[in-house]
Amino acid sequence: MSTIPHHIAIVMDGNGRWATQRYLPRVAGHKKGVSALRACVRQCGERGVKVLTVFAFSSENWNRPPEEISGLMELLVFALAREVPQLQAEGVRVHFIGDRAGLSDKVRAGLVQGEAATAGNTGLVFNICFNYGGRWDITQAAAGLAARGEPITESSLASALALAHVPDPDLVIRTGGERRLSNFLLWQAAYSELYFSDKLWPEFDEAALDQALADYATRERRFGQTPEQLGRPRKAA
Ligand code: IPE
Ligand code: IPE
Ligand code: MG
Repeated sequence: MSTIPHHIAIVMDGNGRWATQRYLPRVAGHKKGVSALRACVRQCGERGVKVLTVFAFSSENWNRPPEEISGLMELLVFALAREVPQLQAEGVRVHFIGDRAGLSDKVRAGLVQGEAATAGNTGLVFNICFNYGGRWDITQAAAGLAARGEPITESSLASALALAHVPDPDLVIRTGGERRLSNFLLWQAAYSELYFSDKLWPEFDEAALDQALADYATRERRFGQTPEQLGRPRKAA
């Protein structure tokens, strides 16, 4: 089995602290965060990662000050307009994951355009979770099945989730020093390897990504089995 994860998911945390440390407004940290993400998309593609899923705005981020929320919405529209041609050139396919009903027409239009422009691409699958929460996702999946009168089973629910087009993440990275999921991929991360970095997201560079990948390569994924079943006898203590 390849030691490069097929699917990496990232909680890009620490933008606000990065800005505050520099006496800058928090939105300056989010802008710097977009640059870090831009580089990360390319680096993941170069390393053979097939799917990258990032947490950009959570269901709970509406609780932030209104100026930060509007700054984040504007940044999304602006960053999409600027980055989509390059993503297009690199063959990256963009998907937006989250509750679109809560977004403005302008933001929704930006998402639709970004997805449409890259829909024919066959390279890295890039999922951007925006107005997303794991609880929202499980709830909307169950509600959809119930409305269609379909039975709720583990596999019917999994295929009604917003990330049903990709396998579950192999590796979930969270930057910014916190060790929690904050409502990210609650269902899909059931067997993901977790990696926490103290680096703030704007500082999560190529070397930091390689460190996360090197750490992942040392993990033994057992999915409930014993080491012996996997053909890797446990070393005597
Ligand atoms: C993560 O960075 C980005 C979003 C939640 C939009 P934060 O804005 O949470 O940065 P910190 O955690 O306050 O430093
Ligand atoms: C998680 O970060 C959400 C995103 C990175 C988009 P938060 O900064 O919102 O998480 P908490 O509030 O510290 O748990
Ligand atoms: Mg944070």
